[in-house]
Amino acid sequence: MSTIIVFASKHQGNTRKVVEAIAKECEVELYDVTQGPKDLSGYDKIGFASGIYAANFDRGLLDFAASNLPNDKKVFFIYTATLDTDFSKSISKAIAGKNATVIGQFGCKGYNNWGPFKLMGGAAKGHPNQTDLANAVSFFKNTVEPA
Ligand SMILES: Cc1cc2nc3c(=O)[nH]c(=O)nc-3n(C[C@H](O)[C@H](O)[C@H](O)COP(=O)(O)O)c2cc1C
Repeated sequence: MSTIIVFASKHQGNTRKVVEAIAKECEVELYDVTQGPKDLSGYDKIGFASGIYAANFDRGLLDFAASNLPNDKKVFFIYTATLDTDFSKSISKAIAGKNATVIGQFGCKGYNNWGPFKLMGGAAKGHPNQTDLANAVSFFKNTVEPA
């Protein structure tokens, strides 16, 4: 059985960089959520990856997860955000009731050039950097692959 990461990366492409770094080194399929609904029944492990917008995963990704995640799957979460904090609440809520097993989550900083941050020259400049990408690959190899 195989692994897929469904991602949304609409601000700076930060989350896309993270999942592409993982896909470059590891056996995983990537799926941009803007492509629409997808049958996920054939996948063993399913990742949801997103930038954080107003403390939540992307609305489209949350709706996708609620509608397309089959029951009884292993799942993991990946996000990029300005703040270094746990942002898994919205995605956990979106998949509640599907009997999913959360095998882990990875978050790192992502450059933010939105609204007031733009006036300050942006926040979390340079992220995700090479260390962030290497940490993401390690997360996948150490936590997702063995699960
Ligand atoms: C509209 C908007 C709202 C955001 N809200 C938050 C937030 O609540 N907390 C946070 O830490 N970062 C916030 N950010 C920063 C993004 O999460 C960060 O830039 C992320 O890396 C964007 O990922 P992406 O380029 O893959 O879309 C926000 C960015 C935008 C554009």
